[in-house]
Amino acid sequence: MKKLSEEVLSRRTFAIISHPDAGKTTLTEKLLLFGGAIRDAGTVKGKKTGKFATSDWMEIEKQRGISVTSSVMQFDYDGFRINILDTPGHQDFSEDTYRTLTAVDSAVMIIDSAKGIEEQTLKLFKVCRMRGIPIFTFINKLDREGKTPLELLAELEEVLGIESYPMNWPIGMGKQFLGIYDRHHNRIEQFRVEESEKFISLNSDGEIEGTHPLKEDSLYEQTLEEIMLLNEAGNAFSEERVSEGELTPVFFGSALTNFGVQTFLESYLEFAPVPQARNSTSGKIDPLSEDFSGFIFKIQANMNPAHRDRIAFLRICSGKFERGMNVTLSRTGKQIKLAQSTQFMADDRSTVEEAVAGDIIGLYDPGSYQIGDTIVSGKEAFEYERLPLFTPELFVRVTAKNVMKQKHFHKGIQQLVQEGAIQLFKTVKTEEYLLGAVGQLQFEVFEHRMRNEYNVEVLMERQGSKIARWIENDKINENLSNSRSLLVHDRYERKVFLFENDFALRWFQEKNPDIQLYNPMD
Ligand code: G4P
Repeated sequence: MKKLSEEVLSRRTFAIISHPDAGKTTLTEKLLLFGGAIRDAGTVKGKKTGKFATSDWMEIEKQRGISVTSSVMQFDYDGFRINILDTPGHQDFSEDTYRTLTAVDSAVMIIDSAKGIEEQTLKLFKVCRMRGIPIFTFINKLDREGKTPLELLAELEEVLGIESYPMNWPIGMGKQFLGIYDRHHNRIEQFRVEESEKFISLNSDGEIEGTHPLKEDSLYEQTLEEIMLLNEAGNAFSEERVSEGELTPVFFGSALTNFGVQTFLESYLEFAPVPQARNSTSGKIDPLSEDFSGFIFKIQANMNPAHRDRIAFLRICSGKFERGMNVTLSRTGKQIKLAQSTQFMADDRSTVEEAVAGDIIGLYDPGSYQIGDTIVSGKEAFEYERLPLFTPELFVRVTAKNVMKQKHFHKGIQQLVQEGAIQLFKTVKTEEYLLGAVGQLQFEVFEHRMRNEYNVEVLMERQGSKIARWIENDKINENLSNSRSLLVHDRYERKVFLFENDFALRWFQEKNPDIQLYNPMD
């Protein structure tokens, strides 16, 4: 192995944020192909190839056709080691999806050029924003008709409130897509031409020198005009503002046809942040420090009752991991030997012997870990900053089917809540249990685990979606609670209102201007 600092500085760890169908799988696959990490396209999407069908991972995951092995992917490219973390979407959207964003140093946001900013992209974007994570934007599907590039940039500013700097600019789109004008490399990359003719370098005025068929096309002229406009009226590029998450470099391309992907990857690697220092109870921890440390951001339960084990996903934040090393779990002070560890690849899961800050490894979890736990190898058992609380949107009322099982029921809920699988609320007046989640999958996992790990059948009554708002001041008239604005306690005994809808929230605010409500995700 190279020197620790060289290893750490070669890491780039990111998540792809997007709405389902924007092209996350396709882009990931193309990136992995560049890195030689997979041999065939189609490997990432386990559901299509059926490659993962034999694994004994979570039953629910199998039913849904997603695979735990694809939740972290690693590949090497041009001296870099790149870790891509998956952020599952649609029905699989859960708090884990959000928490994954606490384990990365940057994010790649994919936007479908015809659809613009969609709901899930917005949600994930907000979390990145909250954490100041640098965001790189890939506008996909330029081989199809879509919104104009100027419209898309305007959406970035208006819907997301982030400034943008187009690193390249499309020349036409859909059937008339000719390529991209690469501002960063001062060249044109042509779509669907032979490799040897693909790149045209530009002169110092940013134009094609001499004669070229492209110059005859009116789309070329139009592009030059748009580039002029961008140069004069657009945002200036600033590496510093990119690293602070205030400016997003924007790339246009087409993942399916593998166009613009390599250019994107190379520019991304030029500007993407190295593993960052992280806040802890002992101040900022330098990733280059010799002492190993990391935190757990996700626990994947194995739903097979014969294998009660789980995998805890650890983001290494400093130093080097070596299999078999002894560490301390800061929360309990307990010593643990890290003998069973896993590294993730697109098409297999292998034992990892060594890994460094920036990498993600899977640890065999006999039930010792909780989400947010810190483990350290040094003498000082510090803890990394608590993971943020994510505002649940869906709620169910939960009871044990069999009243004789109360003890198991409470124990199960307590543990699953502590582990971060689900959020628990209690109605203030009647002390009923409500569970909150950001996605339906969390309830299904909860139900499954209560049955298999705690031997309790639960009844879950859907309460639908609600808007949860915490209260600044805990002194509140409990009579304000009703079905449209239900007052509950969270697990830390803080008071929270669950509003039936936006209308109920606004009505409440108008009637009670003195009550300060807040959303922890704002
Ligand atoms: P996701 O992981 O973000 O959900 O998206 P995914 O990559 O699965 O892509 C969603 C659909 O969009 C796929 O088509 C995919 O082929 C298509 N797609 C991705 N990138 C591009 C692109 O650059 N141009 C065009 N025209 N299409 C693109 P599908 O028909 O839903 O699935 P499949 O059967 O082709 O896999």
